[in-house]
Amino acid sequence: MNALAATNRNFRLAARLLGLDSKLEQSLLIPFREVKVECTIPKDDGSLASFVGFRVQHDNARGPMKGGIRYHPEVDHDEVNALAQLMTWKTAVANIPYGGAKGGIGCNPGELSISELERLTRVFTQKIHDLIGAHRDVPAPDMGTGPQTMAWILDEYSKFHGHSPATVTGKPIDLGGSLGRDAATGRGVLFATEALLNEHGMSISGQRFVIQGFGNVGSWAAQLISEQGGKVVAVSDVTGALKNEKGLDIPSLVNHVNENHGVKGFHGGDEMDPNSVLVEDCDILIPAALGGVINRDTAKDIRAKFIIEAANHPTDPEADEILAKKGVVILPDIYANSGGVTVSYFEWVQNIQGFMWDGDKVNAELHKYMTRGLKGVKDMCRTHNCDLRMGAFTLGVSRVARATLLRGWEA
Ligand SMILES: NC(=O)c1ccc[n+]([C@@H]2O[C@H](COP(=O)([O-])OP(=O)(O)OC[C@H]3O[C@@H](n4cnc5c(N)ncnc54)[C@H](O)[C@@H]3O)[C@@H](O)[C@H]2O)c1
Repeated sequence: MNALAATNRNFRLAARLLGLDSKLEQSLLIPFREVKVECTIPKDDGSLASFVGFRVQHDNARGPMKGGIRYHPEVDHDEVNALAQLMTWKTAVANIPYGGAKGGIGCNPGELSISELERLTRVFTQKIHDLIGAHRDVPAPDMGTGPQTMAWILDEYSKFHGHSPATVTGKPIDLGGSLGRDAATGRGVLFATEALLNEHGMSISGQRFVIQGFGNVGSWAAQLISEQGGKVVAVSDVTGALKNEKGLDIPSLVNHVNENHGVKGFHGGDEMDPNSVLVEDCDILIPAALGGVINRDTAKDIRAKFIIEAANHPTDPEADEILAKKGVVILPDIYANSGGVTVSYFEWVQNIQGFMWDGDKVNAELHKYMTRGLKGVKDMCRTHNCDLRMGAFTLGVSRVARATLLRGWEA
């Protein structure tokens, strides 16, 4: 199912559980603003190349809109729309004062040089600078982008609007980034997994994990999980897949990936078919790459008991039904990967205060938010007799609906 159709379906199910007024339901689904821009740049060889960029601002009832910018060949209008909507529910589940947005450029960053990426990012920023800002819409990194991308956006934005570090989060520390932001989504995944396992009388130590995706989120989740005694038995990325029943040596794998730009060629494990990573035998599966990978075809063969959605919308609604029948517990994306946006919020707060927190404070606050988040989701599960995905959706949607009604949306 297309990402937008799947997200809309989950929203509508939540709206029904909450008994939302049908006009309010309709209004919450419609994005606030959708922008599509052509970004034309000179390539290093002197030729011209054009790329399509998007920024979708979904909702701002609870605060400035917030969401990542993705550089990937599959970025399209529907996917960015779905991701923007998910951000609205995610910031509400995390209970931080933001709305939701998402952006992206349809490109393959691996095929562009650093100077081409810089030109592309600056052209994109020139086209959207008057629509973003610390109190309007605050971008952050996502797939294919990182602190350097945020530094270029900040620099280009500042040419028009002056020094404004709170305009983007996920910046390098030297430009006002927060300690702990780089690891935050992976650390949030660790805290969310711990909180869920505690509910089941279990802990991370001794559990066997499989992780799809070994970029920012997947590699940090792997490092932190292995530090807690979890065994990462298989990983994959765009270059290939590896397994080791005894547990991969994650610090060595991280060094290998830093030097070789991928997991391929690492000697501490056996190569395996990347397509079978999701169905590899394990206790806990962590998709940390693309959306839609757990679908009707893959769900029936999944052997994990728990799925922690580090990626955005990795699970299709059809797969949700198949996995529920198999008794697999799914911790949904809008809670499980909210550690990134939560520490982005801490970064924004530090920029506005002009006061830098130490790393221990960032991590302790993140732990508080993630633990409180699961409690809120579980309370909604009990109230509406639903699974964790609907618990998270009803929590997020109810908070946004309340803010919308308080503002007086019908005038
Ligand atoms: N970065 C964040 O703070 C953040 C926050 C919340 C959610 N997310 C989500 O987490 C996911 C990963 O984001 P990231 O920031 O780690 O991106 P990234 O670009 O740092 O890493 C992406 C990883 O996925 C791998 N990958 C790409 N295609 C693949 C494929 N077909 N099969 C297996 N692996 C593949 C890449 O090789 C890379 O290892 C995305 O869904 C993103 O939306 C990221």
